[in-house]
Amino acid sequence: MKWIEAASYEEMSIIAANIFTAQLKQNPTSVFGMATGGTPEGFYKELVSSYQAGEISFAEAKSFNLDEYIGIAPENKVSYHYYMDENLFNHIDMKRENIHVPTGDSTDLQASAVQYDEAIEGAGGIDIQLLGIGVNGHIGFNEPGSSFSAGTNIVELTESTREANQIYFDKLEDVPSHAITMGISTILQSKKIVLLISGASKQEAMDRLRSGEITEDFPASALHQHNDVTVIYTGVK
Ligand code: F6R
Repeated sequence: MKWIEAASYEEMSIIAANIFTAQLKQNPTSVFGMATGGTPEGFYKELVSSYQAGEISFAEAKSFNLDEYIGIAPENKVSYHYYMDENLFNHIDMKRENIHVPTGDSTDLQASAVQYDEAIEGAGGIDIQLLGIGVNGHIGFNEPGSSFSAGTNIVELTESTREANQIYFDKLEDVPSHAITMGISTILQSKKIVLLISGASKQEAMDRLRSGEITEDFPASALHQHNDVTVIYTGVK
């Protein structure tokens, strides 16, 4: 695991975006794994600026998002699909057919989960996966106790995750109880992983990750089993 301390949130975002743009320049047909949440917003701004400056094109690239809330349609403003459109996809030239976000409102969720992993495999696997981390150590929506061998699946969100994500909803009761998420095994199959950690609320998760202990009680610890993980952090020690 490679650790890079960034002097600021902006610097963290730029370092991460540079890794993605270098990958894209080297291979225009790259397959990217994307995350949502507060942490990568600056990263997406950087990617959009590079695209607008004519430095990169996503015309041949593909993307797969980590997760989506169950029961929330893509056009709903609180969906992760909507977040991705607003933060990235509406501003770049990635083809709509190459954009994949798990479907949270399908009638057969189990089938959608299996098909999602098949689609990733069919695209040749993910070249770089972006991750954030939950205060409880979740990656994607793989909450503590998740099996490291699971593929994309339907999960129940913990109270701490629902509380942390309440800021995007009117009230706690509106935060969905379940999500569809790439499993830890899906994530570990990515060729390269970039994990962003920002802000004091993530200090405990950071300490636990740094300790090197590997346990299903702390999902991010699975990343120690991968041989190409870069952690870019700021506002934590
Ligand atoms: C988002 C995701 C989550 C977030 C994590 C941190 O797609 O999979 O694991 O990365 O909850 O969220 P923020 O960045 O909002 O603190």
